[in-house]
Amino acid sequence: MADTFTRNIRAGGIRPRKVTSMEFDPAVDGMKPPGMAHSVYSSLVTPRPIGWISTISAAGVANLAPYSFFNMVAADPPTVVFCPGGSHVDGGPKDSLRNVMEVPEFVFNLCTVDLLEVMNLTSANLPSGVDEMKHAGVAATPSVKVRPPRVAASPINLECEVVQIVDLPSSGEAKNTMVIGKAVQIRISDDVIVDGMVDWQRLRPLGRLGYFDYAGLGEVITLPRPG
Ligand SMILES: Cc1cc2nc3c(=O)[nH]c(=O)nc-3n(C[C@H](O)[C@H](O)[C@H](O)COP(=O)(O)O)c2cc1C
Repeated sequence: MADTFTRNIRAGGIRPRKVTSMEFDPAVDGMKPPGMAHSVYSSLVTPRPIGWISTISAAGVANLAPYSFFNMVAADPPTVVFCPGGSHVDGGPKDSLRNVMEVPEFVFNLCTVDLLEVMNLTSANLPSGVDEMKHAGVAATPSVKVRPPRVAASPINLECEVVQIVDLPSSGEAKNTMVIGKAVQIRISDDVIVDGMVDWQRLRPLGRLGYFDYAGLGEVITLPRPG
């Protein structure tokens, strides 16, 4: 018995239903166009990974903050990006950006469903001198090759060296910046490895939806690539 996808292909492809929709120009309407209850942008590409990024200042104060404008962008060498936008509550760049300009290293710590609440705590607007890992009660562990510490409870950590810091288009005074990093040391907890593979059910990665919504894993679908 063919599954739904295969039956649709045999029937001549998946035909879009006729739907009504809304459209807007973000430069004209902003991100809360008429009829929408809140800014929609963060709901448009979902679920997004969360880069839970630890950094350290030249004075040695550690910082930890979540960034859902984050992703892996290349494999060889392993390259990731995160994008601070807006400014620190006391003015100037956010601490993560200020820190990588002082000490050009960061650690990506994978956020799991179990770590959701503590991750959220680390998004608080705190004065720059405050160690956010200590503030949120996050146990830190030293990294192997970079100065910012790892989040001990994260099952995956990518220690990264900053390759480039790129100014992005910005409207108004709040700047958007992309920090590009190359992973130089990777840790995967044995707890999430089964038969030589990362096991999703053990990993329980957290995704960001829009608004204040997050997602754990739903159904996992396995599909080998053609040819
Ligand atoms: C799930 C989540 C994702 C976030 N993603 C971003 C992001 O991509 N870019 C950003 O500038 N702020 C983002 N924020 C807000 C920052 O985490 C917040 O401004 C934080 O205080 C920045 O900290 P810092 O000054 O310590 O770097 C996010 C917050 C949450 C809870």
